Amino acid sequence: MPGERPGRRLVVVTGGTKGVGAGIARAFAEAGDEVVVCARRPPQAPLDGVEFAPLDLRDPPAVRAFFGRLTRLDVLVNNAGGAPHRLLAGTEAERHARVIDLNLVAPLTASLAAYDLLKRARGSIVMIGSVSGTRPSPGTAAYGAAKAGLENLARSMAAEWAPEVRVNTLVVGMVRTELSHLHYGGEDGIEAVSRTVPLGRLAVPTDIGRAAVFLASDAAAYITGAGLLVHGGGERPAFLDAATVNKPDREH
Ligand SMILES: NC(=O)c1ccc[n+]([C@@H]2O[C@H](COP(=O)([O-])OP(=O)(O)OC[C@H]3O[C@@H](n4cnc5c(N)ncnc54)[C@H](OP(=O)(O)O)[C@@H]3O)[C@@H](O)[C@H]2O)c1
Repeated sequence: MPGERPGRRLVVVTGGTKGVGAGIARAFAEAGDEVVVCARRPPQAPLDGVEFAPLDLRDPPAVRAFFGRLTRLDVLVNNAGGAPHRLLAGTEAERHARVIDLNLVAPLTASLAAYDLLKRARGSIVMIGSVSGTRPSPGTAAYGAAKAGLENLARSMAAEWAPEVRVNTLVVGMVRTELSHLHYGGEDGIEAVSRTVPLGRLAVPTDIGRAAVFLASDAAAYITGAGLLVHGGGERPAFLDAATVNKPDREH
């Protein structure tokens, strides 16, 4: 039964079977925590020391039953999320609402279901947000709206659940995962996109994992209701390149 190993924290990472979530699960396992990942399908590449539990996060009774079976919980990472590229017009609102369900309602459902356990452990929640929540997101508008809501939800949750439970958001930029080619094209596309990031590369999932471990650690004991940008320096504003004055001097 997860959570019964004395002296070790129990960490649940939703959607921790691949991509960013697998990097988060690996980082907590490397930090010595007991880790459970949940998703609809088992991981293709299981991680050492990480347990898998099948769960559809858009099924609230199943989510409540999952947390109801745990005897302790120290950290919840609400990572499961994402969205296909879909323009607003031409798609029924109900399909856009499914995206909001996964990226905003599901983290709320999981956090509510985990609250009593986290309160008892004086634990913390890490929301996996996105830079899409703070800038226009053409093609993923419902996703951007959900991520904006998620960060605000985290701030209110942090205020309501203090001092027992800390709640923070990682505001994540572009991450290299198994799905990157769908967003940016092949290696050429990924390389071109990498050059737009000040640090010169996309994040790797463990970059996000290490930041999550920090926010859930005692080193972050006074941090709650915060958003931490993990985006390699962000995006250079497009108008700077379009303007006909104040061009950067490429010689220096
Ligand atoms: N990749 C990026 O560049 C990037 C950038 C910013 C933020 N993020 C955020 O990082 C998080 C992970 O993204 P990712 O790129 O790693 O996505 P991903 O590769 O598509 O992985 C998504 C994970 O969530 C699970 N999942 C999806 N729907 C689920 C459901 N209904 N119930 C339970 N689990 C479900 C998936 O497993 P199953 O399909 O088997 O259920 C999988 O484990 C998301 O919150 C995303 O918004 C990613």
